[in-house]
Amino acid sequence: MIHCLLNDEEVCTEAGQTDLTLTWLREQRGLTGTKYGCGDGGCGACAVLLGHRDPRGAIRYRVVDSCLLPLGALREAHLVTIEGLSQTCAGEQDALGPIQAALVEEGAVQCGFCTPGLVVALTAYLLNGRLDCDEEVLEAVDGNLCRCTGYMGIKRAVRRIRRELVGLPNEPVARRDALIAQRVLPPWFAGAAQRLAALPASAPRPEHACIIAGGTDLFGRPDPGLERHPIWLLERDASLSGVTLEQGRCRIGAGTTIEELLESDALASALPHVQGFLSQVSATPIRDRATLGGNLVNASPIADLCICLLALDAEVTLAGPSGERALPLADLYLGYKRLAMAEDEMITAVAFPLQPGLIRFNFEKVAHRKTLDIAAVNSAMRLDLEGSTIQRAILSAGGVGPTPRRLSATSDWLTGRLVDAETVGEAARLAMAEATPIDDVHGSATYKRTLLGRLVQAHFLALAPNADELRIDGDTP
Ligand SMILES: Cc1cc2nc3c(=O)[nH]c(=O)nc-3n(C[C@H](O)[C@H](O)[C@H](O)COP(=O)(O)OP(=O)(O)OC[C@H]3O[C@@H](n4cnc5c(N)ncnc54)[C@H](O)[C@@H]3O)c2cc1C
Ligand code: FES
Ligand code: FES
Repeated sequence: MIHCLLNDEEVCTEAGQTDLTLTWLREQRGLTGTKYGCGDGGCGACAVLLGHRDPRGAIRYRVVDSCLLPLGALREAHLVTIEGLSQTCAGEQDALGPIQAALVEEGAVQCGFCTPGLVVALTAYLLNGRLDCDEEVLEAVDGNLCRCTGYMGIKRAVRRIRRELVGLPNEPVARRDALIAQRVLPPWFAGAAQRLAALPASAPRPEHACIIAGGTDLFGRPDPGLERHPIWLLERDASLSGVTLEQGRCRIGAGTTIEELLESDALASALPHVQGFLSQVSATPIRDRATLGGNLVNASPIADLCICLLALDAEVTLAGPSGERALPLADLYLGYKRLAMAEDEMITAVAFPLQPGLIRFNFEKVAHRKTLDIAAVNSAMRLDLEGSTIQRAILSAGGVGPTPRRLSATSDWLTGRLVDAETVGEAARLAMAEATPIDDVHGSATYKRTLLGRLVQAHFLALAPNADELRIDGDTP
């Protein structure tokens, strides 16, 4: 039995935990404003707001794609659909809230299929965003595709929305109340936290349960066998979330979402440019659900977090019936989607070593699109330097073999070398020789090898203190 708050209504359903929320909304609840576009997280037409109580008792709302959201994730949560948001103007026929008005008046609506998703994504932004620059509000709709408008109207509308609402308070409850006053949110948002607290608590973890974290991989290609197993949603276990810096290591709970990593001050202090790297992973509605553990266990050869953590020399903590063990991340991958972990083990955390000064770390990704796309080739490098001499280099790459890979031969060769144009050129050539890409939809093997060479050069341009002097020849490798 799943108890949740759906818009302004307390709901209890016996539907299956692995049923998709989008199907349930449209077919069982008659809420057809949430649209079915692609069914695999790629368009944002099905976006809804999902709110959970934070430790202080306030609700934190995130925009998520309901086509990838298992119904079990609604337990003790507040689900808000476009129908709920349209109750801001109850009693005023045809009245529009500020988001809808801006979209209509700035020419951002043609067929209207993408509009509910845009309204939901912009509402999440107004609830959580800093509201201090136009770039940020454009990123808030990075998970929404529109097939009609050509985006100029959407860009005008989202900039206008930010400017109209720029003075909102930062404190979450004050922000919520201001948005109710501005008719962005309906009045019942004010009582939602109290109503959530009164819902029955979740059942304990069942034995031999299949783990569902964010579900963004699992529900992209749902396994029909999944519904026969008991399932356990990691988000119910707060001990698996969060970033801590302790004893010279950065430790990240496996259930931490990518958006939580983006928001983590601790992680930003350990890796100064990490936000720029993490924002290249998919788009907001996916990052709001996708977890670190899921990224590692899915074992995609181009998993972005995995590539970063391989170069950071990370270690995973595995927990199973016989206790806990640590394993270098590089040893987790045995072959294509084959892992050195037992079926009854799970990853509870990942940790990587810190160092007293700045960690020189860089991540590069080449994909067909800037957002909502997985890499053709991605690569990360950690470089420890003494002056211009390389003390240690760790280079990793994805899309160039059956698993996410550490390029050990190239990394070892770099140790003790001076950072100069010759070293960079040779490192690029070695990495290309070490790679074993295949032809696929992302490009030919030759293309991917060439890309990898360029990404190795890009690492040095980003990390070497003498980058200006490297004068890397555009024709090498
Ligand atoms: C539209 C779209 C775009 C995407 N873009 C990117 C991208 O740009 N870059 C990228 O790297 N990925 C991308 N992905 C893939 C996906 O979002 C990530 O791999 C994500 O991190 C998976 O995490 P999850 O929590 O959703 O995993 P889930 O789908 O919940 O789980 C995946 C697998 O891992 C297992 N699992 C999860 N957590 C654990 C754990 N702690 N211990 C043991 N087993 C566990 C599950 O049982 C399941 O088998 C994209 C996916 C979609 C749908
Ligand atoms: S239907 Fe396209 S993201 Fe869900
Ligand atoms: S208005 Fe038609 S898809 Fe955006």
